Amino acid sequence: MKRAFVAAAALSIGRTVYAATAKTCPESGICYELNIPDTTARSGSGDIYFQLSAPTSYQWVAVGQGSGMAGSNIFVMYTSADGTNVTVSPRLGTGFQQPLHDIAAQITLLEGSGVSDRVMTANVRCSNCESWSGGSMDLTGTRSNWIHAYKQGSALNSDDLAENIQQHDQSAPFNWDLSQARGGADVNPFVGSAGNTAGPTPSTVASTGPSSSPLRIRTALPFKSLVWIHVATQTLALLIFIVAVGLGLHMATTDHQLSQAHPIIGLVLFVSLLLQPVLGWMHHGLYKKYAGRTLWSDGHLSIGRIAIVFGMINGGLGLQLAYAGSGAKIAYGVVAGIVGVVYLAAIVYGEVRRNKHAIGNGQDEKGRDGLDREGSGSSGQQELLAWLNGLLQLNITKVEQCGTGAAYCQIYDSIFLDIPMSRVKFNANSEYQYLENFKILSNCFRKHHVDRPLTVEQLTKCKMQDNLEFLQWTKRYWDQYYPGGDYDALARRKGAGPGAGPGASAPAPTPTSARTSTSANTGARRPGPAGGMAATAPRTTSRQAGGGGPASTVLQQKNAELMETVQGLERERDFYFSKLRDIELLIQQAMEADAALEEDEGSLLKQIQTILYSTEEGFEIPAEAETEAVGEEETF
Ligand SMILES: *[C@@H]1O[C@H](CO)[C@@H](O)[C@H](O)[C@H]1NC(C)=O
Ligand SMILES: *[C@@H]1O[C@H](CO)[C@@H](O)[C@H](O)[C@H]1NC(C)=O
Repeated sequence: MKRAFVAAAALSIGRTVYAATAKTCPESGICYELNIPDTTARSGSGDIYFQLSAPTSYQWVAVGQGSGMAGSNIFVMYTSADGTNVTVSPRLGTGFQQPLHDIAAQITLLEGSGVSDRVMTANVRCSNCESWSGGSMDLTGTRSNWIHAYKQGSALNSDDLAENIQQHDQSAPFNWDLSQARGGADVNPFVGSAGNTAGPTPSTVASTGPSSSPLRIRTALPFKSLVWIHVATQTLALLIFIVAVGLGLHMATTDHQLSQAHPIIGLVLFVSLLLQPVLGWMHHGLYKKYAGRTLWSDGHLSIGRIAIVFGMINGGLGLQLAYAGSGAKIAYGVVAGIVGVVYLAAIVYGEVRRNKHAIGNGQDEKGRDGLDREGSGSSGQQELLAWLNGLLQLNITKVEQCGTGAAYCQIYDSIFLDIPMSRVKFNANSEYQYLENFKILSNCFRKHHVDRPLTVEQLTKCKMQDNLEFLQWTKRYWDQYYPGGDYDALARRKGAGPGAGPGASAPAPTPTSARTSTSANTGARRPGPAGGMAATAPRTTSRQAGGGGPASTVLQQKNAELMETVQGLERERDFYFSKLRDIELLIQQAMEADAALEEDEGSLLKQIQTILYSTEEGFEIPAEAETEAVGEEETF
């Protein structure tokens, strides 16, 4: 009983002590997280903490305070000179050109920053982000305007805070409800959370765009700290229990009651609880390693749960043994009953939540947050297998079965589409054949510079842990680089791929459906981190080529080319539009400041404005389009 109370108290302490962070992932793999410590939130000035994280396929990623390019306080992240850490450069948005380095910004790069697993992470403290040259943010308020932008490409590898950066690929405004980022002490809130080291997970809101993306809020209870609170309280409880056992033994031996139920149950509990520290150590250690419950976990959890229930019952037996009055018995019964019911409800609630996480898109939460990993773990394996079986149309029931290497080969085939699938042996039954499969995989890794050593020996021994770890890594890689669209696993295994021609056994899509699905794929897909449309569009084409015949192949190629051109043109259009818009704003400002300019038809400004507002003959700006254009956010 005591154990349950103490644990509950520890949890509630945990909630008030640790910082709340608000997090948003406006783009697949790109996430921003914000914390405003209590003291700052109260006074409106002081430190704030934020985190930028993005795959290294981005050359730079930036987040800024403000609603548009001009006058915003921007923080650009890129890899440092040695490539192992990141540089965060504070810049002021001017609206005209590359934002310039802002020497007034007081920012510090904190622990936990760095490049790990192909993800750049910057944990930043800003000490004067409540105002900057050109703007301010009310840190005591709720609504706040932000912008973000990114550019894909090779690493900048620079320590120069004024490094020349190229124009963004994409930028967008978003809002942050500051009240949800509020709380905690004035310390780096991003260390201790397992999320910092986890690989990128796709954002569930990516397709809806940043401005409408609901922020995913979580209260960060750094898992590491929780474990230590748990260890401390349980050790204390165990010490108290040891004293109680000593007293009990003394009483039982003097009264010759050692053969009664109460002392026997008490001693059994005592022995099993002595195992708990060891089991717990193994459970938590291995949990982190394999991101799932292990046999040790089951032992630790079951013994703990059973012991609590038996401990409560044994308390009652003890009262009986001591001939306690009925008042004491009733009081104990009521309290034990209530605590017992609450405890069981908590277990049921926890397990149900765990399962829900596993079934729903646990992807979103899992791996980012230590607590949720702990909460939804062993089902993580089931989830992985479900993904694997879904993607490859297989019936794999155990992670160990991946040790043949065949499934791995095909996962990477779904990304690169160039693995000789006819040579991959799915029915491999000897280690020699497994090795052949891994040879194919390692060729693929070399060719595509996949930066992960293959521990072939352990993997082919079908060891559960090695395979689980590799499969998890592979899933993260796949999340990041899968080009999108459908992958016909069966057809690829039958050897129907590029080059197999129309005779392939895959169901032949009609030319129309092939074309629409290709355009849908290329259209909807965001430029992949592996190098944008140029690299991925032809892939999508060749994927479909198996069924469509030469004519449709040509059409698809044409289509892919056109898509590429359109994208380029749109980017160019936006670029020039933003320039014109900046000029327009400048003129408007100047005219507002000096009304005489407005009247003077011959002035340079008026002439420029006339050019800006002139339309093609016979063309009239529709009323809504006009308001829309004016209301549009400027970006950088
Ligand atoms: C990156 O730099 C920060 C600040 O100097 C430091 O705290 C952090 O540990 C560094 N990260 C790595 C991976 O070296
Ligand atoms: C998987 O199982 C289903 C039904 O149990 C079966 O129809 C299918 O052929 C199996 N697939 C493989 C690759 O074994």
